[in-house]
Amino acid sequence: MARFEIPEGVVAVEDYEPVARERLGREAWGYYSGGAADETTLRWNREAFARLRLKSRALPEIAGGGTGLRLFGQDFAHPILVAPTAHHRLADPAGELATLVGAGGAKAGMVVSTEADVTLEEIAAAARTPLWFQLYIQHDRGFTLELVRRAEAAGYGVLVVTVDAPVFGMRNTEQRAGYKPPKLSQHANLADLHTSYFAHAELGESLMFGGFMDVAAGWADIERLRAATKLPIILKGILCEEDTERAIGAGADGLVVSNHGGRVLDTLPASIEALPRVAKAVGGRVPVLMDGGIRRGTDVLKALALGASAVMVGRPVLYGLAVAGPAGVAHVLHLLRCELEIAMVMTGCSRLDEIGPQVLWDAGT
Ligand code: FNR
Ligand code: LAC
Repeated sequence: MARFEIPEGVVAVEDYEPVARERLGREAWGYYSGGAADETTLRWNREAFARLRLKSRALPEIAGGGTGLRLFGQDFAHPILVAPTAHHRLADPAGELATLVGAGGAKAGMVVSTEADVTLEEIAAAARTPLWFQLYIQHDRGFTLELVRRAEAAGYGVLVVTVDAPVFGMRNTEQRAGYKPPKLSQHANLADLHTSYFAHAELGESLMFGGFMDVAAGWADIERLRAATKLPIILKGILCEEDTERAIGAGADGLVVSNHGGRVLDTLPASIEALPRVAKAVGGRVPVLMDGGIRRGTDVLKALALGASAVMVGRPVLYGLAVAGPAGVAHVLHLLRCELEIAMVMTGCSRLDEIGPQVLWDAGT
């Protein structure tokens, strides 16, 4: 079958998985699909959505609705964004440039990873859709600030600072598949960064406390970033009340409730379970987004019902890219939007701001 063609029978986001697995091969599949350790959190991210029951309403009278929203000064056609994920060239030779075309086709915003395979400037130059830049604070803070300046100059609208992955996590699936991450010098945005800080321990030596954590990012870095840029800053990877307060105190303009797709610390709760706590602690002070396990439009509706303004989607976008390039990405995002619209109609919501706990059976009013 020709590439760029959506295979027959692929009618839902999860239909992409088996085809992507075949196309990607063992190593890339291990990297994309895998989670940390026993992948318990990875499973919970899905199971927790399935446990939430919806409440439908008969004969909904909701003419003139829509899925549009405004976030951080940018307009979005719907609340489904492409999550930042690394190394899209494993899925498509054009890498993030192919993803971008798909996201644009589906009118979805896209968050570009620090570890993209194409430079942030090349991506921004080709963009027809709102772009945010995901920042990993590097041990070299001067280099980190340069990345921020490059993102500002290229026109990115928001800085998404990932705060939940100071280490890579025990990615056993990835290890078993024999996946080898590219060297720093092969990272499009990090080619000039030199570091000797990798988490590696000789037998009998400490992995994390032999210098590695001495250079890790801290809350003072967030305060410094806040002072150094006018871009909105949102912190990705917040799960509890304590960190919510700290994040807002450090000047965050928004939060992403996330367990990094179950890739860093296994047995963290599902993102959708952590969302209500964080949303309650935020109390409407800043927008809250979430990611982790979104595979259906009903999942998007549930996230919005529990306090999210928008959601981000990781693996399904990569699987769409691997199976059918930009068309696959666009199709995945379009399916989610269509399913969200059906779920909105069925639960009697004409606009996103009408989606609340009343759409959930167990929060019934
Ligand atoms: C990620 N994620 C991620 N997050 C981030 O902030 N920077 C990054 O570079 C990456 N890279 C990355 C690679 C791959 C292959 C995956 C699967 C994920 C995490 C990502 O942004 C998001 O939090 C999860 O993917 C959401 O879960 P789902 O949608 O994959 O279930
Ligand atoms: C990952 C890193 C790049 O999850 O965030 O693979």
